[in-house]
Amino acid sequence: MGRSMTVLLTGATGFLGEYLLAELLERGHSVWCLYRSEPRKLDTIRFLSSIGLPRSADSLHWFQGEILDAADRWKSWCQEYQGLEDVDTLLNAAASTRLHLDAYGEPLRTNLGSAKVLRKLVEIKPMQVHLFSTAYVCGLIQGKLMYEVDHPRGDFVNVYEESKWEAEQIWMGDATILRPAVIVGHSETGRCSSFSGWYILFQAVHLLDRLIGDSSEFNRHDLRIDIPADPEGTINMISVDWVAKAAVRIIENPENHNKIFHLTHPSPPTHQWTLDLICRRFNLNGFRFAGVGSPFTQPRNRVERMVWRQMQTILLHFSNDPLFDRTNTERAVPDLPAPVIDEQRVKKLIDYAIEVDWGQSAH
Ligand SMILES: NC(=O)c1ccc[n+]([C@@H]2O[C@H](COP(=O)([O-])OP(=O)(O)OC[C@H]3O[C@@H](n4cnc5c(N)ncnc54)[C@H](OP(=O)(O)O)[C@@H]3O)[C@@H](O)[C@H]2O)c1
Repeated sequence: MGRSMTVLLTGATGFLGEYLLAELLERGHSVWCLYRSEPRKLDTIRFLSSIGLPRSADSLHWFQGEILDAADRWKSWCQEYQGLEDVDTLLNAAASTRLHLDAYGEPLRTNLGSAKVLRKLVEIKPMQVHLFSTAYVCGLIQGKLMYEVDHPRGDFVNVYEESKWEAEQIWMGDATILRPAVIVGHSETGRCSSFSGWYILFQAVHLLDRLIGDSSEFNRHDLRIDIPADPEGTINMISVDWVAKAAVRIIENPENHNKIFHLTHPSPPTHQWTLDLICRRFNLNGFRFAGVGSPFTQPRNRVERMVWRQMQTILLHFSNDPLFDRTNTERAVPDLPAPVIDEQRVKKLIDYAIEVDWGQSAH
């Protein structure tokens, strides 16, 4: 490990942020967390306590604020919070993860807005900058290898990906760009607080399972549902604990600074493998991957309609199938293999998701 960092961490109360914070503390760094809500901060403190952190009261500090005010309020924050001016590293994990534009202009407002504001902040307070983006800034791609480079503007699946691409453009060459795949729960416990992306298919089938129940109206073993995707296609998924570990190790080494890293899985499961597992898990059958671009089976009844509505958000993800080069990542963290995705691990992820009702119940 290199020198100890004093990190300004944004998004510490988020799904990934909690694990980043734990990893930074675990490895002896000091952290200043920008947070918005007291209850979210308390949840994060509870999580840290549950894993025996922080070890020293001096290593963790909190200051309340909104990332979009960071440049304007920096001087007053430094007066209010003694020691904040000592930060030397900015790790930005705050973002809006809404996929589509809402009435408040999210996710553009936060994701693009923060990229601009943080540039201003770094003019006032120079720091080494590391930003979380997403591997899917490449846009819609079929089976082509995407390198850890600045991509030209792509055909984006949603506004979220576009907002992350735009944010990258503002920082390209002047910040480390960390591009995770779809982040899933902890590799050992399955713990997760954000059930989007990869989880939505499982959630839709779980919903279908509950709605069908014992009804004689449906034959749960012959559903005859076509999904417009390639069975050999993949959604690249990666465990949250691995992303946090890899990110912290990468930013600790100055040789990695201002480069791009794909925090992706080297061998993600195929759609067919995942679907077979889902069918076994919920004792359902009759789904078929009908190939990219094929018409999606029209809902024939109220149950299917509800499930489709749930799945609409990820249909495009199913037809997006980039492969991710990991040269920079493998060079930076050669001794940190990504956790293998096998049936047992996926079962843990799903059991946890069901236990917390896909994030609806407190855990
Ligand atoms: N989750 C994934 O599958 C995935 C995949 C690839 C990349 N990423 C990237 O990884 C990073 C972390 O994602 P995540 O899944 O941990 O997201 P998350 O669970 O939604 O957490 C987002 C964090 O950002 C904070 N935040 C949002 N807007 C803010 C604002 N205006 N001012 C201050 N803080 C703000 C949130 O604070 P509150 O707690 O107050 O809401 C929360 O702490 C993001 O950059 C995301 O784009 C995520």
